[in-house]
Amino acid sequence: MELLIKNGRIVDWSQDFYGDVYINDGVICEIGKNLNKNCKIIDAKGSTVLPSFIDLHVHFRDPGLTYKEDIESGSLAAAKGGYTMVNLMANTNPVCSNMDTVDYVLEKAKKIGVVDVHQVVSITNNFDGKDISHLDKLKPYVRVISEDGKDVMDSKVMIAAMVKAKESGRIVMCHCEEHSLTGIDTRMSENVMTWRNLALAQFTECKVHMSHVSTKESMEYIIEAKKKGVKVTCEVAPHHIALTDNDYRVNPPIRGKEDVEFLIKAIQDGWADAISTDHAPHSVEDKKNGSPGISGIETAFALCYTKLVKEGHITLNKLSEIMSKNTARIMGVEKGQIKIGYDGDLAIVDIDKEYEISHEAFVSKGKNTPFSGMKVYGDVIKTIKGGKVVFSKN
Ligand code: NCD
Ligand code: ZN
Repeated sequence: MELLIKNGRIVDWSQDFYGDVYINDGVICEIGKNLNKNCKIIDAKGSTVLPSFIDLHVHFRDPGLTYKEDIESGSLAAAKGGYTMVNLMANTNPVCSNMDTVDYVLEKAKKIGVVDVHQVVSITNNFDGKDISHLDKLKPYVRVISEDGKDVMDSKVMIAAMVKAKESGRIVMCHCEEHSLTGIDTRMSENVMTWRNLALAQFTECKVHMSHVSTKESMEYIIEAKKKGVKVTCEVAPHHIALTDNDYRVNPPIRGKEDVEFLIKAIQDGWADAISTDHAPHSVEDKKNGSPGISGIETAFALCYTKLVKEGHITLNKLSEIMSKNTARIMGVEKGQIKIGYDGDLAIVDIDKEYEISHEAFVSKGKNTPFSGMKVYGDVIKTIKGGKVVFSKN
């Protein structure tokens, strides 16, 4: 299948020019000006063409919690947000602790065919906090293990898991939370566990990725560890940049102004590798009963564009770097750049028109957002995966 996108503002981490992109057989084949092909053409005049986004941290709730989200609704929500690849967390029902569950998810996602799906496996079997024997039975296409939403409290178990991850070339994604401290102070709870997980990563030389870093101190520990050569990458979630001092229930909580300023500085200085949404859809009922989380995959680009680029903190090149290039690098895929030979995965966006976020327009089953009614810039018009349009506004 061929596709020619013409007359767009072509932007990725390293380039920004007006021109065309030609995709053939799923791959970017030509980039330039005045390209002419006898194939389907999308006129992107007045729009910006970016590599589509890759989300390292997403909850699609399938299997078992599909009243909140399923692979189909999640995939469509991702595509609407400009994403074509997602990394699904393991806190499903059953918990994703074996290849049967991984393969169920991957096969279903493939059949739906809207976005590329990677499935994370839990660090301990069924989140029991102790047993890691299932890690020996994983196939190579499982690239990440994580106890998201939980973390592993027993340091000895975490060390053993990191050793196994290192041996098999996997990344450990850390949701840093010391549960015995959460009820006392969520900030201390995050900071203590960030520090511990970094110390264990330094000891084991395992690759770790810190999920949804929200405090200044946590980011400071990560920067310090990076300077020492610890193999750590990290992500920041859009809501931890776009909000301050807000009690909308999410884990980790929304922090203060000083934290947000520090996280933005860490992005500017290249310490924060990635933006991930922590897309956590819930039903109205569950949200009322206190479930933490934000349905965030449909609003991520607009929030980041508005808060980071429009407000002058970073360039659009930099935003593309942290939403696409670096996330692709962390997952080890040839995506996230507009480059010959790379996958033809693109997002066409209108960055000039202001619009209002409405939870009613979400295609995710989760309408839980603190951003409804907020005015933003950065509207995704079309999402293209492998040269195929997987989302179109009109
Ligand atoms: C997550 C969820 O809903 O799965 N919620 C959240 O607020 N991030 C789980 C979690 O990380 O606590
Ligand atoms: Zn988490």
